Amino acid sequence: MTSKTRIIVSSDHADIPMRRAIAAHIEAKGFEVEDIGPTTNESTNYPTHGEAAARKVASGDCQLGVILCGTGQGIMMAANKVKGIRCGVCSDTFSARMIREHNDANMLSLGARVIGMGLALEIVDAFLDAEFEGGRHGTRVDMITAIEG
Ligand code: RB5
Repeated sequence: MTSKTRIIVSSDHADIPMRRAIAAHIEAKGFEVEDIGPTTNESTNYPTHGEAAARKVASGDCQLGVILCGTGQGIMMAANKVKGIRCGVCSDTFSARMIREHNDANMLSLGARVIGMGLALEIVDAFLDAEFEGGRHGTRVDMITAIEG
């Protein structure tokens, strides 16, 4: 990914400070970041934010996305309903690297109530620093896309 890569960041109410720290961290790495909130701790619905972020990636407005909810699971499920999205929940750096290298994931989901801030930032780094390997992995990703119809 180049510094021209635009990254969408969103969450539900589970951890606004963590989302903001992630957005700042990504920006400090030289990427352009669009943080679409929410901005308060008021209870909100993760599908709304997962879909909004996913549509930004699916439309090409952003190339990658990082989303958060309490477990990372609900918002990931919502994002993956949008055509063209491949989003994985990661709680370790190995998985974060592999979902880029092998699965060409275009979105990363984090469980803000599962992992701490330090690990979250390292997972984001592993995801953003990795590149899709293509080849046989491309064939398999094409098979995932074919399921979308
Ligand atoms: C909200 O309380 C919680 O359900 C949400 O953040 C997330 O964990 C859902 O998957």
